[in-house]
Amino acid sequence: MQITSVGHAGFHIRTAAGSILCDPWVNPAYFGSWFPFPDNTQLDWDELGACDFLYVSHLHRDHFDAKTLTDHVDKNATVLLPDYPVPDLRRELEQLGFHKFFETEDSVKHTVPGPGGDLDIMIIALRAPADGPIGDSGLVVSDGETTCFNMNDARPVDMDVLHDAFGHVDIHLLQYSGAIWYPMVYDIPARTKSNFGKQKRQRGMDRARSYIEQVGATWVVPSAGPPVFLDDELRYLNDDRGDEGNIFPDQKVFLEQMEIHGNKGGILMIPGSVADVRGAELTLTHPSDPGEIYDDKAAYIERMAQRLAPVLEAEKATWERGEGSLLEPLRKLFEPIMAQSNVICDGIGYPVGLVIGEETIVLDFPKRTVREPVEGEGRYRYGFRIAPELVRTVLRDREPDWVNTIFLSTRFQAWRIGGYNEFLYTFFKCLTDERIAYADGWFAEAHDDSASTELSGWEVQRRCPHLKADLSKFGVVEGTTLTCNLHGWQWDLESGRCKTSKGHELRSRKLD
Ligand code: FES
Repeated sequence: MQITSVGHAGFHIRTAAGSILCDPWVNPAYFGSWFPFPDNTQLDWDELGACDFLYVSHLHRDHFDAKTLTDHVDKNATVLLPDYPVPDLRRELEQLGFHKFFETEDSVKHTVPGPGGDLDIMIIALRAPADGPIGDSGLVVSDGETTCFNMNDARPVDMDVLHDAFGHVDIHLLQYSGAIWYPMVYDIPARTKSNFGKQKRQRGMDRARSYIEQVGATWVVPSAGPPVFLDDELRYLNDDRGDEGNIFPDQKVFLEQMEIHGNKGGILMIPGSVADVRGAELTLTHPSDPGEIYDDKAAYIERMAQRLAPVLEAEKATWERGEGSLLEPLRKLFEPIMAQSNVICDGIGYPVGLVIGEETIVLDFPKRTVREPVEGEGRYRYGFRIAPELVRTVLRDREPDWVNTIFLSTRFQAWRIGGYNEFLYTFFKCLTDERIAYADGWFAEAHDDSASTELSGWEVQRRCPHLKADLSKFGVVEGTTLTCNLHGWQWDLESGRCKTSKGHELRSRKLD
């Protein structure tokens, strides 16, 4: 098996049976905020696009790049499709001209016929509202000699399915760095922000190491991030100054962490690096010296920013700069969604303020209305300050998901009193009837907490109250706090109270 990195979460996997192009991403995403790091524009995208199979793990813009798929990828490629409850990914690909789909069943091994023979694959599909834009996935491929697990940024909760179906994994490709706007956009004191950033940075890497241990592959490729921020106003987000509070550590930082913890199987791949893997044997070649990128990363980013400045400028020119109040357009968009999402609106539980330029608009979730502020209402418990052009652009483009557009851009500010509100971000990513119906139903279902596990003298429910991670693997106890390393949520073991978000109580009991 020959695996070529094509940047970020992108890989080209060549086997005797056929080739698979995974998550090709070249063009800036999220309002021009994210670019692939290191630069991958120099690759031969027509050649890479002449593939037999296409795998797009999910609809986040750093995985689903409509322009690259349109311009370079063969529309006769067979799409290996994850088993998602809402068929948005298939629809989007059909709109681009793809017409051959191999529909997989979640976590089931399939044999797919390719031009040169058969290929064994399995797609682990995650379907919780918190996973991607209603869906994220990882792909396992085996050509009979080598097994590759491309986990990208998915967070599967059960690794047994992988080992049961494929046995030993030879090479594991996974995310280890941040891909979120927290804590940078929050209105909190700089020192607190830096401390939160440090925790976030370390937790992301700890989670990846926990996955690496569970998968037990011979080789590990840190991938799927970090992006690079080339806009002047976002350049502070790059981890190029040795700031421990930065949530975007790069491949080198993570490979060092792996080494410190005794794992010498980590390998660095840059766009164009080729790994020839035959079971446990691996030969790696780079297109150029990686030192040119990492030895002086700030200078590399500066050169990249200068080279790609026209691309960023062209992106900004597409933003909608209109005039007039946004109250009515937002009412038209949000109120019908609120009317269909009782569990989510009650879960949010309070009015949320949107400050858009000079205008403040209130999303009154308890009352299911969008309105002007009422005098004396004070500061909202959760609020966002967003530039009007971003809101006008998502309205113009009928975007069903503000997480996949505005929030991941990090081009906004936020404040909150109290914990993270998962219901709120779920609402913003479900702005279609189909998505909101699915997400509201998902929250309405009762989740099983009957099994228990023992952790540092405590009996706790085995499955995390957030998204059912196995706490015997992801749970860490310090004092009376339990942290689930899958998403870093925390609980007070004495009361069972979730310290991270509303609701989500944990069953716990001190053992004698
Ligand atoms: S599954 Fe998300 S924090 Fe545990």
